[in-house]
Amino acid sequence: MPQGVIIVSYIAATILFILALGGLSHPETARRGNLFGIIGMTLAIVATLLSDQVTSYSFLIIMMVIGGSAGVYVARKVEMTQMPELVAILHSLVGLAAVLIGFANFIDPTAEFEGAAKTVHEVEIYLGILIGAVTFTGSVIAFGKLCGKISGTPVLLPGRHWINLAMLVLVILLGKWFLGAESTGAGIMALILMTLIGFAFGVHMVMAIGGADMPVVVSMLNSYSGWAASATGFMLSNDLLIVTGALVGSSGAILSYIMCRAMNRHFLSVIAGGFGTEGGAPAAAAGEAGEVVSVDPQETAELLESAKNVIIVPGYGMAVAQAQYTVAEIVKTLRDKGVNVRFAIHPVAGRMPGHMNVLLAEAKVPYDIVFEMDEINEDFPDTDVAIVIGANDIVNPSAEEDPNSPIAGMPVLEVWKAKTCIVLKRSMATGYAGVDNPLFFRENTRMLFGDAKDSLEKVLAELKK
Ligand code: TAP
Repeated sequence: MPQGVIIVSYIAATILFILALGGLSHPETARRGNLFGIIGMTLAIVATLLSDQVTSYSFLIIMMVIGGSAGVYVARKVEMTQMPELVAILHSLVGLAAVLIGFANFIDPTAEFEGAAKTVHEVEIYLGILIGAVTFTGSVIAFGKLCGKISGTPVLLPGRHWINLAMLVLVILLGKWFLGAESTGAGIMALILMTLIGFAFGVHMVMAIGGADMPVVVSMLNSYSGWAASATGFMLSNDLLIVTGALVGSSGAILSYIMCRAMNRHFLSVIAGGFGTEGGAPAAAAGEAGEVVSVDPQETAELLESAKNVIIVPGYGMAVAQAQYTVAEIVKTLRDKGVNVRFAIHPVAGRMPGHMNVLLAEAKVPYDIVFEMDEINEDFPDTDVAIVIGANDIVNPSAEEDPNSPIAGMPVLEVWKAKTCIVLKRSMATGYAGVDNPLFFRENTRMLFGDAKDSLEKVLAELKK
């Protein structure tokens, strides 16, 4: 295919990717955004396949069939609640690809660079492999932590900041050796050592991060994977890969910033790793003694029916129970009865950004009654009933009241300020951060124990009587 057509296809794909990102910023336009992304990626793959650099199709087709089948299998099998793990492991593949392409590029016998161009190319290879190595092992550890195969408790090695600093200095020295290497053998040795340090840094950085801080890590690794892809684009002189990687890298960085703000953390300390570990025990604060008052579905229905204002706070448990459809029906029934019902969405509710919005959109809850934390948090004192559906950490008052709590300083939804707060969960177990929740013992809190979907179906039946 003529080079001009390929360039035009790449520009069109870039525009489609930008439109995709724009579309994904709101639930109403997310489907369209996804479609733009699919068309853009198809265009990018077809244009690349038809470019002059591709000399044989048989190998490519075999690889695409293997990769495509694995992708379809995983996408069909994965549960909504496992999405963050899937995203983490996919990031690791981007990192590994950057490492492998970097090595392949370095030993490519056809590469003919001289003088400054050679140095620039080697810097691209070095940085690409470094970012890729950190992304690879960091994402594998994040995957392990998210699916519970690795403990969420932070692993804090003594002098860990010094260890990080030492690794940085070594990477700089190895970079100097690599750029000055006379032979390919010496260059490869420097690259291998740097890659091993990159792998170790990725493991060390994510192992040091505590449970409740994982959302920031996931979006940060998302950003790293974008920069790794962008570096790969430089190595391969592929403009589309450079731009696409930069889009993923910068949108991931913006998302990390938003997450940091939601968790009340500093962006720079996240980048440096070992974040969210200062102050407080890693997990499980002491439990608060007190009385727990439980309610049944009938009392819950009565409380909801007699309320003027109701705020629903969904959390991870709603996703596990797949209770969103029942929630939507309850909302409709209450609104028909004249109750003002709204949703309050915490930025890190569930296990991935926008998790709750996706579930509510799936159940066709009107967007205009779904509010972000900042928009609705002040309204709890004027609310008759706040109903917490399978949420825990995001409504934990100790974040505001106990400076020693591991989640101290994290903004939370102030459900306890409502006249009555009903919490739906199966037991007194802690949430993701492993921190006890004094909300359950408050005077105005009522616990509705059981699977959220079962309990809500009973509440709905009562409301319809
Ligand atoms: P969590 O604090 O994890 O609490 C969820 C609660 O749901 C649990 O306490 C559990 O209690 C209950 N539950 C589970 N299955 C249930 C079911 N079938 N029916 C009823 N209840 C059920 O969730 P959250 O409040 O949404 O907070 C999110 C947490 O995840 C935060 O710590 C956040 O930092 C972390 N995180 C978030 C993300 C993103 S990006 N959103 C990514 C990674 C981690 P029982 O076992 O007693 O039922």
